[in-house]
Amino acid sequence: MAIGVFDSGVGGLSVHRALVRRMPQTDFIYLADQANAPYGGRTGEEIVELTKAGCVRLFEAGCDLVVLACNTASAIALRRLQQTWLPDCRRTLGRPVNVLGIIVPTIEAATGLPWEHEAERRGDKVEKLDILAVFCTPATAASRVYEIEIDKRRQDVAVFAQPCPELARMIEAGAGAVDLAKAVEAHVASVTTRIGRAPDRAILGCTHYEIVADIFRAALKPGTPLIHQPDATADALEAYLAKHPEYRTGDGGQRRFLTTGVPGAQNMLVETFWGGSLSFEKA
Ligand code: DGL
Repeated sequence: MAIGVFDSGVGGLSVHRALVRRMPQTDFIYLADQANAPYGGRTGEEIVELTKAGCVRLFEAGCDLVVLACNTASAIALRRLQQTWLPDCRRTLGRPVNVLGIIVPTIEAATGLPWEHEAERRGDKVEKLDILAVFCTPATAASRVYEIEIDKRRQDVAVFAQPCPELARMIEAGAGAVDLAKAVEAHVASVTTRIGRAPDRAILGCTHYEIVADIFRAALKPGTPLIHQPDATADALEAYLAKHPEYRTGDGGQRRFLTTGVPGAQNMLVETFWGGSLSFEKA
């Protein structure tokens, strides 16, 4: 038994790395849907179907619990799958399978509040607005999930989501530092213009972007705090497993990496982030 970690491609490795560091004994199987990446420009229906197929593959590989290490899948597909698919899936498999996302823990980290908390709207005057930029895929931006959910909890935080089309594809393809910096600087400039000043904090709301976090840091105003989605997800998974001992997660420290794309070594950008060579097997 193992925990499944799913992303459209290599971006979810940023979350996987944090989970493995936190739970070194746990078995993990990572699945990258590289045959269909990137997801960020796809329709909602496509994202739901591809995410479902990824979960099925990981359930077949023996995982009971799957973490969607992908903002796009978490924003677009997770609720649909939990409501309309997982109950039947559990009956068919006869196992308590479940799928968790990464947006809830990220919003908890950004607001400093538990998910259950929804602010009472008292219409108090907000003295100082905290401006939070969220860099994400076009699909995540269109869902407005970060704006909606943060606004329910914190009236003193204003969210500006900045879609970054092509950035995940560039990272997936191992683009060079100069081209990546140009793209990131343009997105930072664009959100800064929309806000009218630099953001106070930022979320790298696409797991691919964590791989180039240093490039974002260099493009943002020096010292801009970044909310760390991988650590927030590791906190949430640990808390979830403590409450749900029924999930068998293995204890051999096994690591498997599957891809729907072409197996083999990953590009240098990803391997540098990972700190070593990283080979995938065919999913
Ligand atoms: N890494 C993903 C995310 O967090 C998906 C990027 C993509 O496939 O467009 O949204």
